Amino acid sequence: MEPSLVEKIARRPIEERQRRGYPEKFPELPIVPAARYCDPRFFAAERKAIFGKSWLFVAHADEIAKPGDYLLLDQLHEPVLLVRGADGVARAFYNTCRHRGGPLVRERSGSAGKDLICGYHGWTYALDGKLIGVPQSKDFPPLDRSCLGLAPVRCETWGTFVFVNLDPSAEPLRDALGVVGEDLGPQIGDGEGVGPVLLLERRSIDVAGNWKLTVDANVETYHVNTLHQASAAIVLDQLATAIFLLPRGHSRMLVGFREGIVLPFELPPFPRASELADAGIYSYHLFPNTSIVYGGSRSFVFVISSWPLAPERTRYDVHFIAATPADGPHADHIKAIIEANWGVFLEDLGNLPFMQRSFEAGTLDGFTLGYQERRIYHQHEEIDRRIGTENVAPELRVAPVLADWIER
Ligand code: FES
Repeated sequence: MEPSLVEKIARRPIEERQRRGYPEKFPELPIVPAARYCDPRFFAAERKAIFGKSWLFVAHADEIAKPGDYLLLDQLHEPVLLVRGADGVARAFYNTCRHRGGPLVRERSGSAGKDLICGYHGWTYALDGKLIGVPQSKDFPPLDRSCLGLAPVRCETWGTFVFVNLDPSAEPLRDALGVVGEDLGPQIGDGEGVGPVLLLERRSIDVAGNWKLTVDANVETYHVNTLHQASAAIVLDQLATAIFLLPRGHSRMLVGFREGIVLPFELPPFPRASELADAGIYSYHLFPNTSIVYGGSRSFVFVISSWPLAPERTRYDVHFIAATPADGPHADHIKAIIEANWGVFLEDLGNLPFMQRSFEAGTLDGFTLGYQERRIYHQHEEIDRRIGTENVAPELRVAPVLADWIER
């Protein structure tokens, strides 16, 4: 990152702490219709236009470390599997046998060994998707096997982060990452001298709330002094929250630590992590559903992803990441950090089923967002842009007001 950008980001929490009133010229944010969180037609439109067309972070490379290792991406609304090839390349395919649609894998994770074998009649595919075996092939007319490989899904990696995109004509991942890729690529993505970026643990929990509720909880800090008063608020100065709305629906945030706080982190740092991670909780939201967060130092990152399973149900995934292995010399310390953070996440999630219930019952038609919650409105604006405003029912639309507040 340019030193001038680092300086600009580092300065803003101090400016925010000193701010005494509503920012001059910042627009009043219009009411957000609550039905955007429960309307089934809106949910279907989000799945198609956003989750069907965006690059989505689905795995850390360590989850498919060896050839044949796979993940069944059952959080997507189409059946997709991710598998490490014999050549070491991560690939994604529909989990759909080309004979009659049987599954190649049925567990959420595992090893397929040397081949992917359909559990129904035994058609066999190489790890790169080529059809290589058809039992009793004498019963079929000559098959053109070159046309009967597993149907591929776009899959690209950014360092150890693996992404898929259900849209075959999607732009390259790096273009979609935009400023997030530029800022974090040299630190924990890909590039010279990034060093080890290792998976410590992945945790998942299903939440009785819309996927945007779990995203919203990650992109604002207005709630910290109330909801997290006995946890995160002890170390975070919520008033020192600096927010940067970025192009493509992405955003950046730095929340300063309280004065005098020294976190007892002992882990080796990522070699090229920014010193911004020492100043507070330094994070990015990657549209639509992923937050990448330095969790209190240059040495610990968590990646949170929210997956829409139904209008009122979300899978919440957290990948905990460091530059040192989970079972190494810092094992006890790592365990303590993960448990402390997981406790904060559970505090975040505890309100959401109640909010969802209110939205569904219509006891709240719409909600008001403050300046410190503007990342939520930014996300809503981008959602409507991706769906196409004309495809959103008039009563569900949000008016675009933030264009002049998007920066780098
Ligand atoms: Fe896969 Fe028949 S459905 S082999």
